[in-house]
Amino acid sequence: MTAVASLNTGAFSYISALVRDRSAIVLEPTKAYLVESRLTPVARQHGMETIDELVDALRKPGLRELTQRVIEAMTTHETSFFRDVHPFDALKTNIIPELIKNRARERTINIWSNACSSGQEPYTIAMIIRESFPELAAWNIRILGSDLSSQILAKAKDGVFNQTEVNRGLPLPLVLKYFQKIGLQWRIKDEIRNMVDFRPVNLVEPWPPTLPAMDIVFLRNVLIYFSPETKTEILRKIRKNLKPDGCLFLGGAETTMNLDVDFRRDPVGKTICYRPGQ
Ligand SMILES: C[S@@+](CC[C@H](N)C(=O)[O-])C[C@H]1O[C@@H](n2cnc3c(N)ncnc32)[C@H](O)[C@@H]1O
Repeated sequence: MTAVASLNTGAFSYISALVRDRSAIVLEPTKAYLVESRLTPVARQHGMETIDELVDALRKPGLRELTQRVIEAMTTHETSFFRDVHPFDALKTNIIPELIKNRARERTINIWSNACSSGQEPYTIAMIIRESFPELAAWNIRILGSDLSSQILAKAKDGVFNQTEVNRGLPLPLVLKYFQKIGLQWRIKDEIRNMVDFRPVNLVEPWPPTLPAMDIVFLRNVLIYFSPETKTEILRKIRKNLKPDGCLFLGGAETTMNLDVDFRRDPVGKTICYRPGQ
């Protein structure tokens, strides 16, 4: 197979501007190697020999599908069940019991797992609810899983995971109870899959107008890719969409500190949740 020539500065600038415009992901020049390694297969799949050719093709109007392929190739989908376990412990010990008291009248809880990649995060939340809060079976529990990438959302909706994905973070009793073995894969059972509604949402494009006010938002391991201005803009929109006593979880390397946003840190067990109000 012909080698794809290495990336020149013009091609890198074009790709990084395109990715920033469409997803807000900032690619520093030190990430040129990443662009090269992720886009080389895309170029080849489209019968091109160089990334320059790929860039020439992208410059032509109307190639939405190719543009989407490039954006998807440049996003990182790393995730796992019960990732960084403490936010999930906090859900179980404090956050959901508190909501059960505070929402006793409306009996509705809205949870949003944003930038959810292949779905392990919203499915973890669904399993916790099913496993630890049987009284919520009669409530209206809405879990939304969203991501920019339609490809990864299709995988999330399928709910089929390989052995390595299942081994990462899932306790064996939950695997046996909530997954069905199909050949070498594990398929999440409908009772959990049907608790999550998956929809595409790009954080930096207008959000669906029908989003309900949220009680709990997970927005983890995605802000790290954005500029401080973009983080601020997104967190302000999340704040507007969060109930006054709602809570937000960020990734371990993410914080609202040093950003001009209206959140206060609320330590819960071994994690921090962010509540509306300074
Ligand atoms: C590293 S994964 C994090 C998955 C999960 N939240 C977790 O913490 O395990 C980052 C996800 O953010 C998504 N993403 C990147 N830019 C986005 C944007 N502008 N809007 C929505 N999702 C985005 C990617 O497609 C990817 O699936």
